[in-house]
Amino acid sequence: MTTLVLGGTGFIGKRAVPRLVQRGEKVVVMDINPGAADFSEFGDQVQVTRGDIMQFQDVVTAILNAKPDRIMNLAYLLGSGDDTPHFTMKLNILGMDNCFEAARICGVNRVTYASSIAVSGQQSNFGDRAINEDDPMHGTSQYAMHKRFNEFQAQQFNEVYGMSITGIRPANVTGPDKVRGSTDHVRCVTQPAAGEPVSFPKAGLMRLPVHVDDIAEAFVRVTMVDKSAYPIYNSGGYPISLGDLAGIVKKFLPEAEINFASQGGKEDSGNYLTDNNRLLGEFELEYPPIEQRILQIINDVRRDEGLPLVS
Ligand SMILES: NC(=O)c1ccc[n+]([C@@H]2O[C@H](COP(=O)([O-])OP(=O)(O)OC[C@H]3O[C@@H](n4cnc5c(N)ncnc54)[C@H](O)[C@@H]3O)[C@@H](O)[C@H]2O)c1
Repeated sequence: MTTLVLGGTGFIGKRAVPRLVQRGEKVVVMDINPGAADFSEFGDQVQVTRGDIMQFQDVVTAILNAKPDRIMNLAYLLGSGDDTPHFTMKLNILGMDNCFEAARICGVNRVTYASSIAVSGQQSNFGDRAINEDDPMHGTSQYAMHKRFNEFQAQQFNEVYGMSITGIRPANVTGPDKVRGSTDHVRCVTQPAAGEPVSFPKAGLMRLPVHVDDIAEAFVRVTMVDKSAYPIYNSGGYPISLGDLAGIVKKFLPEAEINFASQGGKEDSGNYLTDNNRLLGEFELEYPPIEQRILQIINDVRRDEGLPLVS
C-alpha cells in the first residue's frame, strides 16, 4: 500500500515517513522544500517530489503518479503568518481544499490532516478544566481561524462526499530541531543543552508540550486505519509551566542558566488542559514520562554539538 505525505520533509513529516516505511508502506512525499529531509536510507520505498500544495495541478499530479491508498497532509505555514494574510490563506485554506478535492476526484477516500490546539484559544475561556473535542473553539488568531476552517472543510468533504478525513490537533510539539511555531518550551531545553543561557519573560506561562516522535506515531496510526471513530482528536501532552520545565532541565543540567523576568503568566496561557482520551484509547497510544522525553532532547542536542551526554 502507498501513502502520499504532503509537507513530508518538515519537522513532523520527517519522523512520520520512517514509521510508515516500518509498517511496510511505500511512501511518496510531496513538499515545496524536498531537500529538507534525507530518506535515502529507505531506497525505493520512499520517493520525494517537489510540489506546491497551493497549485491544484501539483497535487493532482502527485496523486496520479503515486496512486496512494491514503494521504497525510502536513503542508502548512507554521508561525502566525499575520504579515502575509493573502499568501497564508492560499497555503492554509486553499492548500487544504486542493488536498481534499484532488483526493476526491482521484478516488482516494482516506485523508488525514493537522489541525492544532490553537483552535481552542486561551485556557481562561474554560476555567481550570480539561477540554475535549466537543468543546467550543475560542481561538481567534489567523492561524487558529485557519485551523478552525480546515476542520469545517474536512467536515464538508466527509458529509457531502462520504470521504474519511480525520484531523489531529497537536499540542505544543517539541523536539531538538523545532524552529517554527511555538518554540519557548523548546528553547528552554535545547539552549541549556547546548550550554547557552536562555531568558523568558514569564515563569508561570503554561504550555502543553508533546514530543514529535509521539505526534508522528499518532499521525501514522490514525492514517493507517480506513476510518476513525471521530473526525478530530486532541493530541494532549504534558501540561507544564516554563518554570517547572526549567526545573526538570536543571535536574539533568544543574549548571543550566534559565532566567525568568517574572513569576506570573498562567493567566496568559493558551489552552493547556486537554482531554486526549479519544486518541490514546482508540489508537492505543501511551506517552512516556516527560522527564524521559526531555532527557532525549537534551542528549540529541548534545550529540549534535559534540558535548558529553547526560543521564
Ligand atoms: N509543530 C507544532 O508544534 C504543531 C502544533 C500544532 C499543529 N501543527 C501542524 O502540524 C503540521 C506539520 O507541522 P510541522 O511542525 O511539521 O511544520 P513544518 O513547517 O516543519 O512542516 C511543514 C512542511 O510543509 C511544507 N510546505 C510549506 N509550504 C508548502 C507548499 N506550498 N507546498 C508543499 N509543501 C509545503 C514545508 O516545506 C514543510 O516541510 C502543520 O499543519 C502544523 O500547523 C504543528
